[in-house]
Amino acid sequence: KSEPPIVFHWFPFIGNAISYGTDPCNFFMKCREKHGDIFTFILFGRKMTAYLGLDGNEFILNSRLQDANAEEIYSPLTTPVFGRDIIYDCPNSKLMEQKKFVKFGLTQSALESYVQLIENEVLDYLKSAPAFKGHFGTVDISSAMAEVTIFTASRSLQGAEVRKKMTAEFANLYHDLDNGFRPINFLMPWAPLPRNRRRDAAHLKMQSVYMDLIQERRKRGREVDEEPDMIRNLMSCAYKNGQPLPDKEIANMMITMLMAGQHSSSSSSAWIMLRLASRPDIVEELYQERVRTIGEDPLQYSNLSKLTLMQGVAKETLRVHSSIHSIMRKVKNPMPVANSDYVITPDKVLLSSPIVTHLSEEYFPNAGVWDPKRWSQRVETETSEDMVDYGYGVISKGTRSPYLPFGAGRHRCIGEKFAYAQLATIISTMVRHFKFSTIDGKEWVPPTDYTSLFSRPAQPAVIRWERRFP
Ligand code: HEM
Repeated sequence: KSEPPIVFHWFPFIGNAISYGTDPCNFFMKCREKHGDIFTFILFGRKMTAYLGLDGNEFILNSRLQDANAEEIYSPLTTPVFGRDIIYDCPNSKLMEQKKFVKFGLTQSALESYVQLIENEVLDYLKSAPAFKGHFGTVDISSAMAEVTIFTASRSLQGAEVRKKMTAEFANLYHDLDNGFRPINFLMPWAPLPRNRRRDAAHLKMQSVYMDLIQERRKRGREVDEEPDMIRNLMSCAYKNGQPLPDKEIANMMITMLMAGQHSSSSSSAWIMLRLASRPDIVEELYQERVRTIGEDPLQYSNLSKLTLMQGVAKETLRVHSSIHSIMRKVKNPMPVANSDYVITPDKVLLSSPIVTHLSEEYFPNAGVWDPKRWSQRVETETSEDMVDYGYGVISKGTRSPYLPFGAGRHRCIGEKFAYAQLATIISTMVRHFKFSTIDGKEWVPPTDYTSLFSRPAQPAVIRWERRFP
């Protein structure tokens, strides 16, 4: 039995941190060329074993709970931001129950109402945002999509009261909390830095904002015309042992959804807009598709699946610009790799990167080309053997799929349905009212900025817009 090959590095502790940190995808591709799908690299003294490809996705994402553990790796980073007793600050069985609660809240009827709220919120934004004043102009699309994402998520999933609080004060709290989401905090989450003190103060304040809101709702009782939202849903959930979800945990789960959804969705929507600005022909096709299938009516959740090009645009952008490039698990027991001599020992952290299969020619011909129409020809097969129940409902296990922008297995994203609805509604509404292009009319997208934990467009990312109607 042997160890996977070690990637060459000059300095013992820093190891491969610079090449991995500046461009992880390129780093993985180069290591793969030299060593194959399994190799170990050093990241600030830690031994990281990447296992790429379909077998790697399966090996890591479908691993047994006792062999590979997510919370040990993620908790130092997420617990100070999200809070105690939830997600990665609790046993996995509790997380599975919490994921089930969220799933309850994302019903068809909740999503139906969210789509309309999101569309209205985008329309209000486009009317009032200084960057969209007049008939044509330019906009820093990353900042615009960050605003649109937080306003739409707060108005829908988070509820009307949270949307009302999206003022300067809440924005500052959000900003201070968000500053806790830095790769360095994997290593030193509690370092006594002013930044970390501000993060902790912001968490407590935000938690109390949510807890006050829950208390008020409880006093008031459920109103007849109350919209469905996640807070109300969580207020009615209880663990299997009969204990209702405590207010503090509801607050922390709401903070988690706000923070976890924001970066992934806003960077995805910014990438979509940048890709579209590079391809005004696709913008026109999307516009025609919307007019042809929905006409002048407001968008509805049940209509989104009819917008097939729109679905292709979202899927293709998540293929090429997956927001999460590294999924990690701490190895707890020796894990033999099938059909090889390798055993992955407990001194390692396993790393899965589905974007590597997203960008492999064997699964996606012309993988580097952004082509939303490839999805209309592609048939994704899912057999019943691929369905599994981790405790939060039957989901597609799908770990052997080459396309996993939302992960797979027990830690698969809970926000997938919401994220698709949010992305499709935002983009469809923007395209309904605007044309977009790059500044010089040539195909262009900015490079990827990997310095945060999410793969977002490098700043500034400015595009042109023009209103369709006076
Ligand atoms: C987990 C991607 C939107 C909440 C994940 C994972 C991925 C992912 C790849 C798996 C991580 C792992 O296995 O270690 C995305 C993308 C999104 C998105 C690409 C948008 C385009 C959202 C939204 C929410 C959300 C909107 C909240 C409503 C979560 C949570 C987890 C998760 C709580 C952790 C689940 C667990 O560990 O069991 N997401 N996500 N995500 N996502 Fe998302």
